Amino acid sequence: MMRNIGIIGCSGFIGSHLLERLLESGRYTVVGVDTVSVKIEHILPHPLLTFVKGDIYTLNNRDRIFEACDTIVSLAALCNPALYNTVTLDVVESNFQRPLELVKWCTNTGRRIIHFSSSEVYGRTVQGIAGENLVDRDRESQYLLSEEVTPLILGPIQAQRWSYACAKQLLERVIYAYGIEKGLEYTIVRPFNFIGPRMDYIPGIDGEGIPRVIACFMESLLFEKPLKLVDGGHNRRTFTDIDDAVDAVMRIIEKPEQSCQQIFNIGNPDNEVTIRELAHIMVGTYNDLYPHHSAKYEIREVSAEEFYGAGYEDCDRRVPDITKAQTLLGWIPVTGLKEALVKTMVSYVESYGKKHAA
Ligand code: UGA
Repeated sequence: MMRNIGIIGCSGFIGSHLLERLLESGRYTVVGVDTVSVKIEHILPHPLLTFVKGDIYTLNNRDRIFEACDTIVSLAALCNPALYNTVTLDVVESNFQRPLELVKWCTNTGRRIIHFSSSEVYGRTVQGIAGENLVDRDRESQYLLSEEVTPLILGPIQAQRWSYACAKQLLERVIYAYGIEKGLEYTIVRPFNFIGPRMDYIPGIDGEGIPRVIACFMESLLFEKPLKLVDGGHNRRTFTDIDDAVDAVMRIIEKPEQSCQQIFNIGNPDNEVTIRELAHIMVGTYNDLYPHHSAKYEIREVSAEEFYGAGYEDCDRRVPDITKAQTLLGWIPVTGLKEALVKTMVSYVESYGKKHAA
């Protein structure tokens, strides 16, 4: 039997890829809601999709829109670090108050919710705070962030960067409590830096402000500007290919019993790099892909305050323990960093800089 899924934020980066996969499978009808449709224009006419343009939190006919949907995927949120210390109230509203309404509605109407949280809830690592003393160099596994064991460590209130992680964390706690006290059927996803086509924007072309690091570096590569390393680029991230990530979400959708009332790290622990290494890899990859355009790029250090303004602090290291997703969902990411970067970079060139690919 055909299942019905609702997606809030279906034209975002993750939403657009999930939507494609659900429709391609032919097993789902989807009601997609978003304020824009720019990333899904190519699939809008699909017969299994009903697209509703608007903000689900101001539309007053939510019951009717999602009438046939048994599962709601909640993706809409402000999730760009440059916003966390600049429009903090909006960030908290979009990551806590608004999705909380949806959580209550799902509880009251007996719907399943797949809620996208963030790897950012882990904040800093114990090792990052305690310094070298705590580091056992022979035991790399000590860094792995685990859903049910690792403490969530945020900075002081004045460091407004943490407002996003705090809002995400509080909502996770509320969802968890709704599960226990009211039987809410939920799954929480913690994404670890998903990358792929249709990510973010290029400032001055189709957005303003500071996007996430891959888009910042792509802007530099396409328009021959210096790549900027915030605070030396020593912090680390594990980048996860969007197709691997969507595989995990499909398994969550298709295995309600295994994913019910669970939190999953979704990330590729093998794809860890420092941001400095990332800059060098992207410059090398770009020059290999487009040799006729080969250029020498400046890689420049900037302070966090200069780049993001006051109130920015950073997560030092985020490597997911994915044992739970492996065990319960049978999921394992298969795409290495280089391959994921090439897919992403080529898509940026196709969208923004055709002359470089000519
Ligand atoms: C962000 C969000 O806060 C997370 O919620 C989200 O899950 C995550 O992206 C994601 O994509 O999954 P973050 O990893 O800090 O977290 O986002 P980026 O803006 O991509 O920054 C990564 C690192 O690069 C940070 O250390 C940042 O300071 C640095 N950076 C960024 C640079 O050194 N140069 C730049 O030009 C941009």
